[in-house]
Amino acid sequence: MAQNIPRHVGIIMDGNGRWAQRQGLLRTVGHRFGTETVQRAMEYMSRAGVSVLTLYAFSTENWKRPEKEIATIMSLLSEYLYKKTPEMRSSGVRLNFIGDLSRIPEESMKAVRYAVDELRNGSGLKVNIALNYGGRAEIVTAVRSLADDVARGRLRPEDITEDMISARLYTADDPDPDLIIRTGAETRLSNFLTWQSAYSELYFTPTLWPDMQDSDFDAALEYYSSRDRRYGGLNNA
Ligand code: FPP
Repeated sequence: MAQNIPRHVGIIMDGNGRWAQRQGLLRTVGHRFGTETVQRAMEYMSRAGVSVLTLYAFSTENWKRPEKEIATIMSLLSEYLYKKTPEMRSSGVRLNFIGDLSRIPEESMKAVRYAVDELRNGSGLKVNIALNYGGRAEIVTAVRSLADDVARGRLRPEDITEDMISARLYTADDPDPDLIIRTGAETRLSNFLTWQSAYSELYFTPTLWPDMQDSDFDAALEYYSSRDRRYGGLNNA
């Protein structure tokens, strides 16, 4: 196993639709198999000693997909939460959702509230599920809240710092992601953790999400371990 373990890993889980289509199956079948990989990823990252895992499950742009596909993703999420919560509880997972949940169907929200509540005392891996999440929208919300403080005379514009913005994001309690993995061959961040990813190492793999195995996660962590993170400074090794 890799030596430098990232504290926070973000994953853009891409390729479910292509995985299914390649086998002549419906795209939604790909999402179902994708949930198996979600389980593998959580177990793997727990074992590896990662502290925070953020999974991009549904972006603000995903509403443009056919209604039926959206409904399937939402029901797969609820099914996953009801079925896997006892297991996640035994392994110490703490669950958190990031994104604008006001648009999430009530049925799914029931499952979200149930799982978050059941897992609130988890002392192991913290899992953030990004749902109706968009990085730019998250920054806009933070900026509005700062602007409100300025308008009320509680803050001067020149006193605004990067830390104040970080503290008003959904991930305020988490370290920035050290490593972001994207599966499915695309090489972009697609509005995922836009502010938080400023210094993240990026790992892109052509492997489609349902095909990701422990050995593929090993490869991502090995890659991270081999990077020399300088944050814009000089290497003093
Ligand atoms: C990307 O594949 C995947 C999604 C947009 C949905 C991911 C959702 C799940 C795996 C199910 C529920 C999540 C949890 C956390 C249990 P894609 O459809 O964009 O694939 P493509 O690029 O091949 O079309």
